[in-house]
Amino acid sequence: MKHFLDLSDAGGDAIAAMLNDAQDRKAARASWPKGKADADAPLAGHVLAMIFEKSSTRTRVSFDMAMRQLGGSAMVMDSGNMQLGRGETVADTARVLSRMVDAIMIRTDDHAKIEEMAKHATVPVINGLTDRSHPCQIVADLLTVIEQGKALPGLEIAWFGDGNNVLHSILEAASLMKFNVRIATPAGYEPEAEFVEMARKGGATVTLTQDAGEAADGADVIVTDTWVSMGQDHAHNKIAAMAPYQVNAALMARAKPDAKFLHCLPAHVGDEVSESVFEGSQSVVFDEAENRIHAQKSILLWCAGKL
Ligand code: CP
Ligand code: NVA
Repeated sequence: MKHFLDLSDAGGDAIAAMLNDAQDRKAARASWPKGKADADAPLAGHVLAMIFEKSSTRTRVSFDMAMRQLGGSAMVMDSGNMQLGRGETVADTARVLSRMVDAIMIRTDDHAKIEEMAKHATVPVINGLTDRSHPCQIVADLLTVIEQGKALPGLEIAWFGDGNNVLHSILEAASLMKFNVRIATPAGYEPEAEFVEMARKGGATVTLTQDAGEAADGADVIVTDTWVSMGQDHAHNKIAAMAPYQVNAALMARAKPDAKFLHCLPAHVGDEVSESVFEGSQSVVFDEAENRIHAQKSILLWCAGKL
């Protein structure tokens, strides 16, 4: 069973294959209507069930469009309207859905829930974000970086702000795709040590600092995310601690002249990123958002054993 709970489930070679496939499929349908199926419709007849225990715009729409473009279809279920929301177990939900659909995508809080889902499902389970990681986002991010003409091995990616789920998946990707990560966070908001060690074990250089400028110096890619993730407290002291890590023009100026700015969105312009950077010529955030469709098509194909 090919579950996609984290990037390591696929490994570096499969991720490289996903990135190639995503580029090919994207190029082949450049000016087509967005809902038209790819010529080979490789997932014709397949249905994806999506469970959301947290809000989503991009993940929800991009998985639905990905399934349409692969010739299949998707259904969205908000957990509040499911028996899951009234206490039916994850295990029973996994076994029932496995009898009815071809794959399951779930966005939830506790990563243990998605592991439980995968344990009991007999169809692939895909992580659409947990408190721990966001692997689908990072396949789209890598695709976006490659489209900008940047090769992954040896790339210097710099992260600013909160050491969160998105950063964890960047670190996991660094271990698999051999790029380096500089991380600037306030004290106490570093990523989990397990992910830093994973990246280093894979051969990536990971720098942890409280000096935002130092992390930005000569970087190829500048990345940030919301200071307050879904399910977290909007604590005043956290926001205050994050202020020096805003990605603004002064910080961008310390990166390479051709550096790109990434943000998984939704953004809080004026907090983690200034308006001039978000709207500026180095920002590729809307390519990145579109690439969720193209990346997820390849993830779905890998899970279905077709890549
Ligand atoms: N980046 C991302 O996952 O967006 P949504 O929360 O809108 O799905
Ligand atoms: N870190 C953010 C990502 C949203 C796509 C969150 O978990 O809310």
